[in-house]
Order: sequence, then structure tokens, then C-alpha cells
Amino acid sequence: MIHILETQQFDRILLSELFAETTRLENNSETFLQGKIMASLFYEPSTRTRFSFESAMHRLGGAVITTENATEFSSVSKGETIEDSIRVVNHYADVVVLRHSEVGMAARAAAVADIPIINAGDGPGQHPTQALLDLYTIQREYGSIDGVHVVMAGDLLHGRTVHSLCYLLGKYDDVRITFVSLPHLKIPDTIKQYLQKHAVHVTETDALDTVATAADVIYQTRIQKERFASVAEYKKSVGKFVLGMELVDRMKHNAIIMHPLPRVDEISSEVDVSPKAVYFKQAGYGVPVRMALLKYIFGTHFSI
Ligand code: CP
Repeated sequence: MIHILETQQFDRILLSELFAETTRLENNSETFLQGKIMASLFYEPSTRTRFSFESAMHRLGGAVITTENATEFSSVSKGETIEDSIRVVNHYADVVVLRHSEVGMAARAAAVADIPIINAGDGPGQHPTQALLDLYTIQREYGSIDGVHVVMAGDLLHGRTVHSLCYLLGKYDDVRITFVSLPHLKIPDTIKQYLQKHAVHVTETDALDTVATAADVIYQTRIQKERFASVAEYKKSVGKFVLGMELVDRMKHNAIIMHPLPRVDEISSEVDVSPKAVYFKQAGYGVPVRMALLKYIFGTHFSI
């Protein structure tokens, strides 16, 4: 049984198999998971992750049971633990996609589950399936992962998509990452240490304008209002690293702009028409990537 909890569990061979299958599945449907049921259990809001997982399951012939506001509309509101909820859902589904506001909740669920658990975001921890589609987007839209220079900007402390993507980029050769953040929203030291151990060249700055022109990929992120102790604290941190058309025009001609979404105001809407802006395509890749992942979890052996 395979749980998907963090991106450290993937290796390059599996990633290339998953991505080859993803390309094959783009715009295709199959019946591979007919008779299987996916439970999507979301204790935090989501548009992309929940819908793209559910779309992926339907496109593979499977069925879906879902609660999009499990904090309010599941028995957690009556005091049930995640462990008891999972022990019960075990009997109703063949796989669980779980989003929660607390770090480590997917691992707690996996510890008692008889069926695969997929971490769909655990607070400011990790979001491994988002990182898979992010890495696929770099390969598909930029053209290669080895040798890439990625500028990651925004809330790098709480940004679980950033954390998961860093662990994946550390598996490739000659990667450079430039982190752009305010001092209190910096990338955690544990991730920097992992990257340095894996020979990734890491730089930190608070000057997006200066580094954007040298980037192959700009990975912009939202300042995560829900992770701050007060609205006043949040307001001190927003609006500092906005990507507008003037800066986009100065980027390399073949560079791409990514964002896990949702966007608030950190990329001006005028940028959306730029050929460099791939963030809506990126969200679209969530379906075939998650189809390939579901096939892997349910026992497909890919051949590349
Ligand atoms: N990227 C992402 O996780 O989006 P949702 O919160 O809409 O799922």
C-alpha cells in the first residue's frame, strides 16, 4: 500500500515514469479505476486540488465521495479524532485525499489507515501532489529541470507548495534556487540545509526586480492570510513582491511564470496574457498528473 505524504519519497525514475504517463493521459480518459471509490476529505478550502483529484478519478472510471468542509460537516465537529474518522472511512472508500490545517495530519491518518492516504496539503507542511504538477509544468513548459534557475517569491515560511517543490528540485542536477521573501517569511532552515546537501545553489534576497531578469522560472506565491496571528500582521506582509508587466518584459524571453494559485494581487492581471504566464495551464496539468498518480497507487507498473 502506498501513501503519498511528502515529496522526499519520490525518486527520479518514478518521477520520469509518472510524467511520461501524465503526458499520455493529457486529454484522455480510461476505465482503469472502475469500481474504486475515492473519498476527498477537506478540512481546509480548496478549488484546484479537490476538483482536479475528483476530475482525475472520474476520468479513470472511478467514483467519488466528498466533503469540502469537513471541519463543519463531518463528525469532527462533534469531537471525533482524525484517527477515528479514517478508521471509518476505511470501510467506505479505496483511497482518501486529505487536506488539513495542521502539519502531520496526513501522516497521523496514514498510521491507522488500511487504504492509501494522499496528503492534499497539511497546513504549512507539504503539498506533494501540487509539487508533482509544478515539476511537470517546468518540464513541459520550460523544457528541462536539470540546470534550471527557479526564483521562488512570497510566503516561503508557510508555503507548503514551495516546501514540497524544493525537495523535488533537490533530486535534479545543476539547479539554482533564489528565494525572495521578507525576513519573517523566509524558507525554513531545514529545507535550505536539504538543498545545500543535494548541491542546489541557494541564494536569498528581498529584491525581486534584481533577480527576476536572471530566472528561468518565477514561482510566485500568495501571502497566506490564514497562517497569521492577526489581520494587522498579515497586512504588514502583503504587496511587497508584485510581478507586473514592466518586470515581465525584462525577463528572459523563454522564462515562465508559475503560481500554485489562488492568486490575490502578487501577479498583476495584465500579466495573464503574456506567453510567459503558464499558471492556468499549470493548474490544468493537475488532472493528468493526479490521474497518473492514482494509477500508480492502484498498482500500475509504468514502462518508459
Ligand atoms: N494550489 C492549490 O492547492 O489550490 P487549492 O487550495 O485551490 O486546492
